[in-house]
Amino acid sequence: MVSTGDPLEIEPADLEIRRLGEPRFASPVARLLHGRGTSVHYVHESDRVLLDDTVQMTAARGGSLADWPSLEPGGPRERIYFEPSGVRAAIVTCGGLCPGLNNVIRGLVLELVEHYGVWEVLGFRDGYLGLVSGVDPLVLTAKSVRDIHHSGGTILGTSRGNQDPDAMVDTLMRHGINMLFVIGGDGTLRGAQSIVDAATARGLELAVVGVPKTIDNDIPFIDHSFGFQTAFGRAAESIRAAQTEAASTPNGIGLVKLMGRHSGFIACYAALAHQDVDVVLIPEVPFEPDGLLAHLDLCLKRNGHAVVVVAEGAGQDLAGASADRDASGNLKLADIGGVLRDRITAHFADLRPSLSLRYVDPGYAIRSVPANPFDAVYCIRLAQAAVHAAMAGRTAMVVGRWHGRFIHLPIAIATGSRNQVDPHGDLWISVLEVTGQPLTFA
Ligand code: F6P
Repeated sequence: MVSTGDPLEIEPADLEIRRLGEPRFASPVARLLHGRGTSVHYVHESDRVLLDDTVQMTAARGGSLADWPSLEPGGPRERIYFEPSGVRAAIVTCGGLCPGLNNVIRGLVLELVEHYGVWEVLGFRDGYLGLVSGVDPLVLTAKSVRDIHHSGGTILGTSRGNQDPDAMVDTLMRHGINMLFVIGGDGTLRGAQSIVDAATARGLELAVVGVPKTIDNDIPFIDHSFGFQTAFGRAAESIRAAQTEAASTPNGIGLVKLMGRHSGFIACYAALAHQDVDVVLIPEVPFEPDGLLAHLDLCLKRNGHAVVVVAEGAGQDLAGASADRDASGNLKLADIGGVLRDRITAHFADLRPSLSLRYVDPGYAIRSVPANPFDAVYCIRLAQAAVHAAMAGRTAMVVGRWHGRFIHLPIAIATGSRNQVDPHGDLWISVLEVTGQPLTFA
């Protein structure tokens, strides 16, 4: 089992995808596409995407091709496991909102119904709660999902927290479901694995395929998660507002708090997108407030204003984090933005002209918006890859993109570690270069 997210710790066997059985049917996609005069692209069953993408990594691993870990590519197979007319699929969205959820739902439904011609698609309401609440699921049709991608949020509703796997499997069996698509983050995907385990223990034929969802971009072995680009783009607009406010008054400081519980990707990317930020604080890099305040002294003397971007999970040791957890099992964070606002205000109390601090917390505004065009494209392609995987009988896996290719990743790997900003990596170095902030605030 992988714990650090380091590709070098992964063995080829860790990346094998579980199959319900050997493919039994010819894909109907060929028939449907030939009808439109379109040629068909299939993924060859023996093709693989290498996990390592540099000569140095490959050399460090040694051995030969058979020893190098590789991923199953995503995409349509010529032969599939499920007879489409016997497929009743279900979709569930769990956890916090993320731009693109409706795009993924729409993509799944259209691919299942229009390309494979499955029997029926149901949407369970309010996350895993809908799998135990007894509330009837929605019947999702090509018509009912046609325009949903223009709105943020999820038409299915969502909730945090897992439910009893046996009770969820009971509901799925009662509705005759043989294919479940789960859209959610690491806690949700662990729940999906528990559904797989409960179904397997009963000898049931159920394909469970996840589409990883996290605006924090913290799922490992995925180039980036859907909605992340939309979220940091929206966050960059908040930085612009804070910078404009700060630059328009003497001794102005713009302080922007952004989401990012354990991973500071949104803060880093939004700051790099805006490029007029003096300080970025992320959970992965500890800091001392005195060092930060001394640096802000310098910024005000030099430029007359300063902009600070802080990820919500940064400096939790200073903010007095509690041990309380939310329904997903996440630690409840202390408000580092408020703590910094008070410390900065107190530090500059005697400044003349007096300090003008503007605190901006775009919070939920960055994740409740519709997907931008890039994420919209990404979402539909992820959804298509998820359907191809399930139709081919794959289970206990998620779809993702690695080195630009759509791939299948076992849930155990996707939930076994966390993607974080490497304080010694190229992204953080870019942030240090653009902001001009020191390596550490000691
Ligand atoms: O995990 C995604 C995320 O948006 C985090 O960035 C944030 O900490 C959390 O969800 C907030 O979610 P909620 O307030 O809905 O529980």
